[in-house]
Amino acid sequence: MTAIIIDGKEIAKKKKMEIIDQVTEMKKQDFTPGLAVILVGDNQASRTYVNSKQKTAKELGMHNVLIEYPSSITEHELLAKIDELNNDEAIHGILVQLPLPAHINETNLIEAISPEKDVDGFHPLNIGRMMTGQDAFLPCTPYGVMVMLEEIGLNLEGKHVVIVGRSNIVGKPAGQLFLKENATVTYCHSKTKDLAVHTKKADIVVSAVGKAGLITADHIKPGAVVIDVGMNRDEQGKLCGDVAYAEVKEKAGYITPVPGGVGPMTITMLMYNTLKSAKNHLNNLQNSNI
Ligand code: GUN
Repeated sequence: MTAIIIDGKEIAKKKKMEIIDQVTEMKKQDFTPGLAVILVGDNQASRTYVNSKQKTAKELGMHNVLIEYPSSITEHELLAKIDELNNDEAIHGILVQLPLPAHINETNLIEAISPEKDVDGFHPLNIGRMMTGQDAFLPCTPYGVMVMLEEIGLNLEGKHVVIVGRSNIVGKPAGQLFLKENATVTYCHSKTKDLAVHTKKADIVVSAVGKAGLITADHIKPGAVVIDVGMNRDEQGKLCGDVAYAEVKEKAGYITPVPGGVGPMTITMLMYNTLKSAKNHLNNLQNSNI
């Protein structure tokens, strides 16, 4: 069996067209969704991600601001900037690119962002809302995975999903989103004994570890759906995921490539969250004028 490739780039393109239409409508009311991105230090990978976010926001007609600081900036100064952005009427989404230099406490910054502008979905209030099934900003990568699966028309009810990786950004929230769709979820991580015993039972495997070649054909049940969230470099320096793509593609039912799979969806869902926040803001403005 050769797997059907889930084309994240194509799905993202479709979703972005929907966002452009909605931004265009909003602009007719003299209202433009705005995203502010804070980048600290000179981490090249972070700069590349931030540039893509800026470029996409621009493409979609959003107002976007990049605020850059040297790694010598203090936590106090960053908190003051976040406070200013929380009160800025033109900004509906605030994102602090992670990781941050060691002297800055990430949690303090995340918790300082207004939950109404937390388009990354990292604030504890949004995480709590997500876990209790309330309306929330969902973390962009797992959200993008769910949208991809919806696009291929996969019914998740009763499916066994094995999540490999338990980060706050991807693994943990991904499990919650699958649970909400009535899937049965197993979490695996670096201390799991015999990973393949678990993944081989899965209808859907989501790997979000950051280790090239971790998931081989021996880890996969024939016909399973394989979602690769990994973003690594192989020995030749080429971008690759966690999944040994060439061999797993011959055994899986569906597979996401790297690049061109989950990556484009993450940025698209960030834009979707920014649009959602802007809509909320506009509704509040309109209601307060009644
Ligand atoms: N660093 C790596 N991924 C992300 C992300 O989704 N959001 C932020 N803010 N930082 C990141």
